[in-house]
Parts: sequence; structure tokens; C-alpha cells
Amino acid sequence: MARVTKMQCLLFQLILSSFVFWDSVNKVNAGVTSSYVRKEFPAVDMPLDHEVFAVPKGYNAPQQVHITQGNYDGNAVIISWVTFDEPGLSKVQYGTSVKNYGFTAQGTMTNYTFYEYSSGFIHHVLVDGLKFDTKYYYKIGDGESAREFWFRTPPMIGPDVPYKFGVIGDLGQTYNSLSTLEHYMETGAQSVLFLGDISYADRYKYNDVGLRWDTWGRFAERSTAYQPWIWIAGNHEIEYMPYMNEVTMFKTYLHRYPTPYVASQSSSPMFYSVRRASAHIIALRSVFSSHPLLLIRYLCYSDSSFLLKYLVFNI
Ligand SMILES: *[C@@H]1O[C@H](CO)[C@@H](O)[C@H](O)[C@H]1NC(C)=O
Repeated sequence: MARVTKMQCLLFQLILSSFVFWDSVNKVNAGVTSSYVRKEFPAVDMPLDHEVFAVPKGYNAPQQVHITQGNYDGNAVIISWVTFDEPGLSKVQYGTSVKNYGFTAQGTMTNYTFYEYSSGFIHHVLVDGLKFDTKYYYKIGDGESAREFWFRTPPMIGPDVPYKFGVIGDLGQTYNSLSTLEHYMETGAQSVLFLGDISYADRYKYNDVGLRWDTWGRFAERSTAYQPWIWIAGNHEIEYMPYMNEVTMFKTYLHRYPTPYVASQSSSPMFYSVRRASAHIIALRSVFSSHPLLLIRYLCYSDSSFLLKYLVFNI
């Protein structure tokens, strides 16, 4: 959230709680929320040598691994990671038992510059045709530097299929961000609906912007490599920075965080929808503008009757 005043925060909470109230009126069991309350501002970014930012060992080792839903109904994932020493292969090996990778998927590689920073080689691989409600193991990278992770596909979509989502926004990379992520991971939630404002790298200037996207990717990997985070861009992803000749809005975000927008027949990665278990998730970013006050992003999901149950938004 950009320059949030206490008033805006209160308003946001009020709206959020009225929807939660609305939800309980409608007799839907949304479970128990955590008692965890994040510390007050100001928040300080973790230093570059913090252990959560450590680069994985080995030549060209994949880092910043993250997955997102890959198709409309959830039996596909897009797996993304970054390599630095050389492009390497955009290849994922996967299967349903440990160290038994019977399948291979190929993807694409991209890279970009931001001021004088050159990104690593960013790989995106769509892994589709998966079984629902199944644990998959996957391996990326080559030889001794290869790394292995796993994820679980959601159950097939349908009314009343139980599924536990987390909702996170404005994460950043402060000590509070770490605490928030650790608490989230204790909840046992299966997928994150991410409301935007990812790394807060735009607090930095020049080449440090790119560097702070890399640190964020390594920090969040502990969760993002194992369960899909469903993305919406926030105003901190705009990165309209004419003083260093960077005027392509959302450049970093669009290179690093793919969304399955084509699967929902959207013409833009900023607008899409997916279904997951019993939820229909609509990711909307309403306005492309460099002016934060004009930006509204919201995320709605409804039950199988398509009755709107939640509306979470942020200005
Ligand atoms: C992408 O990487 C290649 C290989 O290192 C390099 O030649 C090219 O300039 C890079 N492109 C951008 C846009 O950084």
C-alpha cells in the first residue's frame, strides 16, 4: 500500500470486516483467523547479507523459484526460476514420487535490463495435464546444482470443495515481512492470493532496484516454490522511474511473475481469472497509470453459485 494513512488502513479493515461479517451471515464457515498481528511501522529491510537472501550453492544453481496456477481449473502450474551464470535449460522434470521424474516440460527464458542492472536468466515452464489432488515432485537445474521441490495440485473444482487460501499483500522484505511469511507458513494454507506490492524494490534507486527483486525472490522461495501464489500487481510494481530512463510500467513484474491470463481468454496479464477447488478468483487491475491514486486493484472470489462473497481492494 503506498503511503497508507491510518485512516485508509482503518477503512480497509472496516470494509474487510464487513465482508467477513457478510460472509458469516451467509453461514459459510471461513475458519478461524490467526491472532498474529504484525508489528507497527517503521519497518526496516533485512540487510543484503541476511541468511534468507542467501544464494543457493553451485554453478548456475536455480534460485528465486516460484510457482503459480497454470490453467483455468488448477491442474497445471507455471514454474519459474532464475539462473545467473549462463542461460541453462528451461526444463522441468517431474513425477508423482520422490526422485522419480518420469515427465519433462520445456519452457522459455527471458531477461531484461533495468538501468544498468541486467537480470539473470528468467525461466518459465508450464507444466500441465496434471492429476488433481496429487503431490508432484519436480527438479530444475543441471548436475550437482539441480534443485528439487514439490507441490500439491488442488482437488477438482466443484461446490463445497474444501481449500485453504492465504491472503497476503504488501509483503516487502523487512524483518516484519519475514515474520509475516513464517506465520503464514504455519497456517497450513495451500495457496496465496497475493494482493500486490511484492518486493518494495522501488524504494531503491538505480541498480539496487533489480538487486532487491532478486533478494525478494530468494526470501519468498521457502513458500513460493511449494505452493502457487496467485498474483495481482500493485502500485509498487509500476516502477515508472524516468530519472533513470525506466518508463515501461510493470517491466520487472511482467518479466518475473507470469499469470495464466490466456487460459481465461484475457488479452492482458494484468486481468485474468482462475478457478481453484470451490473458489472462482478474479484478478483485476483496473487502471494502467503511473498515478497511484487512480489505481484500484481488487480480488474477488465467489462460491459455486457465483454469489460474491468477498471483495478485497486496495487503493
Ligand atoms: C540477455 O542475455 C543475453 C546473454 O547473456 C545477452 O546477450 C542479452 O544482452 C541479454 N538481454 C537483455 C535484454 O538483457
